[in-house]
Amino acid sequence: MLSSRLSTGAFRKAGSMAASRSTFLPSTKVRFASSSSSSNAFESFMNSRATLASVSLFTAGTIAWYTHLYGTLPFLGEVHASHLSDEGLHPPKYPWPHSGYFDSFDHASIRRGYQVYREVCAACHSLDRIAWRNLVGVSHTVDEARAMAEEVEYQDGPNDEGEMFMRPGKLADYMPAPYPNEEAARAGNAGALPPDLSLIVKARHGGADYIFSLLTGYIDPPAGVEIREGMNYNPFFPGGAISMARVLFDGLVEYDDGTPATTSQMAKDVVTFLNWAAEPEHDERKKTGIKAVILFSTLFALSLYTKRFKWGPIKNRKILYNPPTDKTGH
Ligand code: HEC
Repeated sequence: MLSSRLSTGAFRKAGSMAASRSTFLPSTKVRFASSSSSSNAFESFMNSRATLASVSLFTAGTIAWYTHLYGTLPFLGEVHASHLSDEGLHPPKYPWPHSGYFDSFDHASIRRGYQVYREVCAACHSLDRIAWRNLVGVSHTVDEARAMAEEVEYQDGPNDEGEMFMRPGKLADYMPAPYPNEEAARAGNAGALPPDLSLIVKARHGGADYIFSLLTGYIDPPAGVEIREGMNYNPFFPGGAISMARVLFDGLVEYDDGTPATTSQMAKDVVTFLNWAAEPEHDERKKTGIKAVILFSTLFALSLYTKRFKWGPIKNRKILYNPPTDKTGH
């Protein structure tokens, strides 16, 4: 090694040289000849009262003009009279069965949630992005999904006479919407539009926790809060006043599997269903993710081992140079 061959004295010598050099530096300030000539005129200009006064006036004028144009200064914070409920009460974090890295959706809950959606929410909310076939293998069998689709009439056509006709639904059809268009939906809900629920879990801050809190969070407005006629108080909804009334009440639906249909049970099930609708790839995504982590960490370990194995002899070898000895003696 190079360092081992250098004597420790060499370092000490270098260190003392660096220390001693600083003491040689002159302590007086250097004044360059070129700067001294103009500095007198400049300094007297800077120190004059006229300059001071005009600069102050210019600054005050600029600020006044800016605030006249834009109202406030950009670096001053504004204070508003606001209330927590303007932003909506933050929902608590619920222990969803599917929230862990290794957890899939609770599919029995998706099935119950579909029933709640169909019997309650579907009266007002559409679910445009979900087709009957999407339920197959997730919450229902093919025959069940087909039977449910056939109960709905869809418009199809045109036929040979150029006329549109009605036919029973097929697996490829999408969920029927309660209203033909937005205007009809607004007209049926006192001007408020019930949003499409396909992606609602992803479209709202707080996701599943928020929707669950919203559905179960209807309470009487606190003292001093006025709610307009036809609106309902819900602390989780931003602003506090929501057009949708409370829709879930104990025993509203009757589950096939005998689960007691309490308000919170129905809310949990319908939110699980809507979470699935927003993320149908969820289970597959986690499975693929785990596979990828296992595969890539194995490959990483292998490549680390191979690299050290191959480079070990190269990095540890010692190259010696033996100069040819001059045999003639010159
Ligand atoms: C009687 C009609 C009606 C029913 C039934 C109904 N909703 Fe609504 N829903 C509305 C209306 C109207 C709005 C719009 C509220 C607003 O913007 O003030 C709404 C809004 C929502 C929102 C969006 C809230 C937000 O943050 O913007 C969600 C989520 C929701 N409903 C879920 C459901 C679920 C789940 C069900 C079934 C359990 C359901 N709704 C049943 C009428 C209904």
